[in-house]
Amino acid sequence: MPGKAAVAVHIQLASRKLTDSRRRNPPHTTHRVEFADLLRAILFDETGMVGQPHECHDTEMQRSFEAEILDGGGQMPEMLERAHVALSRTHCVLGNHMAILRALRRDGQAVRRVLDIGCGHGGLLEKVRRKMGAEVLGVDLRPPKSGAGAFPILKLDAVREALPPADVAVSVCMVHHLHDEEFVEMIRNVGRTCRRFVILDLVRHRVPLALFSAVGPLCLPKVNVLDGRQSIRRAHTPEEFRALVARAVAGTGGSFRHTVAPLWIRQIADVRY
Ligand SMILES: C[S@@+](CC[C@H](N)C(=O)[O-])C[C@H]1O[C@@H](n2cnc3c(N)ncnc32)[C@H](O)[C@@H]1O
Repeated sequence: MPGKAAVAVHIQLASRKLTDSRRRNPPHTTHRVEFADLLRAILFDETGMVGQPHECHDTEMQRSFEAEILDGGGQMPEMLERAHVALSRTHCVLGNHMAILRALRRDGQAVRRVLDIGCGHGGLLEKVRRKMGAEVLGVDLRPPKSGAGAFPILKLDAVREALPPADVAVSVCMVHHLHDEEFVEMIRNVGRTCRRFVILDLVRHRVPLALFSAVGPLCLPKVNVLDGRQSIRRAHTPEEFRALVARAVAGTGGSFRHTVAPLWIRQIADVRY
């Protein structure tokens, strides 16, 4: 795996490529555009494809355990609802909901009942119900006070309490809320009542942090921007994530597949028990 030196060489080459191209085509541009060009040159190769996601991990970004604003509770219900709607919209734009739906459709067996672990206000479940016709339900430490309407959201701790049975459990952007031992324990706990668990979370990496910091404030409520940035700092690197899932399934007869999306926008562990 390339280290700091390899990343520095990559940036130097990208920078040199940019200077050469500027010499050939003199710019009518500002500094801001040059920065955007440099970022593009660093992230993309000539074909416009992103470099291997498993390369260039940032080993210097320490995991943060500071809580997010919404973890504190006590917000007005309207403000909470707005934040969850914006979070669901963000998942749509980033393709997170679509990635879960794709995984559910590629199950190989009938998916009659889907359980969302840490479902928030149930935005994903609503979509799964509508698009797949499955029975859906969610669990969360802080379910919406007024309920989700068309399906149940149970107030449960997914790490420590018995969960309702389902064919497949899913989880989106919840795992970074857990300490490592809790993450391992939750995977085992879900395996007691479900045959498969699709876990999607953020990746702790400077690229998604930089992209989210640039774009988030243009279109999201402030609480989503602050919590979103903190979520990325709290998330696992792909190596950490993979190692914890491996620990959870070791000796159980289960198996998993781990994938990382381009630009480190998400990672998914697909666990079969
Ligand atoms: C960032 S929100 C994500 C909500 C939703 N999955 C989404 O992506 O829109 C994380 C959610 O996980 C819930 N959560 C955290 N720890 C939990 C636990 N141990 N058991 C159940 N839910 C938990 C929080 O209450 C919160 O609603």
